[in-house]
Amino acid sequence: MKIIASVPAKAILFGEHFVVYGKRALATALNLRLSVEVSGRAGEGYHLIVEDIPLFGLDMELTSEYAQPFINYDEAARAIAYIRSAVQYMEREYGIDGGVELRVKSEIPLSAGLGSSAATTVATIAALKRYFGLWNGDLDELRRDAHKIEKAVQGNASPTDTAISTYGGYVLIEGGGVKRLRDLPEIELVTGTICTIPVGAGHESELRLKTRELVERVKTRKEAFSSVFEHIASAADELTGEAVVALRRHDLTRLGSLMNINHGLLDSIGVVPRRLSELVKLAQESGALGAKVTGAGALPDGTGTVIALPAAGHSDELRIAMGLTGAIVRDLRTNAMGLVVEEE
Ligand code: MEV
Repeated sequence: MKIIASVPAKAILFGEHFVVYGKRALATALNLRLSVEVSGRAGEGYHLIVEDIPLFGLDMELTSEYAQPFINYDEAARAIAYIRSAVQYMEREYGIDGGVELRVKSEIPLSAGLGSSAATTVATIAALKRYFGLWNGDLDELRRDAHKIEKAVQGNASPTDTAISTYGGYVLIEGGGVKRLRDLPEIELVTGTICTIPVGAGHESELRLKTRELVERVKTRKEAFSSVFEHIASAADELTGEAVVALRRHDLTRLGSLMNINHGLLDSIGVVPRRLSELVKLAQESGALGAKVTGAGALPDGTGTVIALPAAGHSDELRIAMGLTGAIVRDLRTNAMGLVVEEE
């Protein structure tokens, strides 16, 4: 028996980071997918094969220290942290006992702000639940399980990413709760991902989880400037509320302006390094209705993604302009389908 669970990429449209402090955030699923296949194996334990993820492929026993051929251990280690935690969680909470092969395939770049961690977590536990006869179709339970795992790896984590990986569509995080918004239209977004490929294979990097580090940096800034931070966070919350209204009315000009403002707030909390900042400016000056960093942002030497809202009929020019910076540029659509679990 082979079980295949697939989930979409996510883009936070408004409210990242501030959502960790109880403010509203709006996120959507993009039409890039990650899948986890679970099938039986002769031996005990877990055999993991990660392939097709932009930047690396590897093959390893999940319990062992050593990964067989890898291209980029840094990125691989981050993916494994979530898979290993998901497997340990399933052993502890649901009593599964191995004897499986897990094969991960992905179109979602890792550590880029497009939800690869949540996608890996949700797809891994969905596939394991179904394989071990534990799947009852309860998406809310699955999302909560995935969120616990994400929190264990990431430290402070909002439910945004795991909600989008699970449900797809659009979600609004409000007062810490998750609301699925089914009345928002699909729109086109151009994404630009800046990738810095680290040189070397330092195993210590397993601990250097990007989102965790950025969330901690923001916390430090919040503590140092608590009253100023509160104003910025309240403004971000307002932007999210206004964005839902603009999107519902399909007022893309207003939505774009709100994105530009949100980007300024992200810059003010220190999660926008030079290359992402340049990419946003370039998109804004190349006819985008709006552009912003999405997700956690990036460390100065790291990977991150910008989303830009093209004016109707102008996405080609925008894509070409953003590509000139060396970013990996994609023309994507929002409101993509959530988790799909199939048996082969
Ligand atoms: C990461 O994709 C989004 C953050 O807001 C963290 C979180 O919500 O858990 C930075």
